[in-house]
Amino acid sequence: MTELYNDIVLDHYRKPRNAGVLEDADAVGKAENSACGDVLHLYLRIDDSRVQAARFQTFGCAVAIAAGSRLTEMVLGLTLAELGGIRRQDVADALGGLPPMKVHCSVLAEDAIHAALKDFGNR
Ligand code: FES
Repeated sequence: MTELYNDIVLDHYRKPRNAGVLEDADAVGKAENSACGDVLHLYLRIDDSRVQAARFQTFGCAVAIAAGSRLTEMVLGLTLAELGGIRRQDVADALGGLPPMKVHCSVLAEDAIHAALKDFGNR
């Protein structure tokens, strides 16, 4: 399996960054892939309209774990507008690319951002 993935994906899969719940989150986004059933939760602390902290949890595949981990690094310091502009391709690029059959896993990250932004707007 590991020969499918580049070193960035494997590193984030093996040593996920910012895993777990962010207790004082201002926004929580949940995304689910209806095809495979994998789930990603994104927790954000937002202050001065910028992301100050991010954590994630996933019940998912290796790429879902890597995408959640990389996403929590990517979003730090971003404005809400910048956050909303992140697309699955940005996540895939930040992971050094994904094999074609795993590109859909990066969709979880984009969907979790949008869910978190919606949650933030509803508070
Ligand atoms: Fe479901 Fe990767 S196989 S998100």
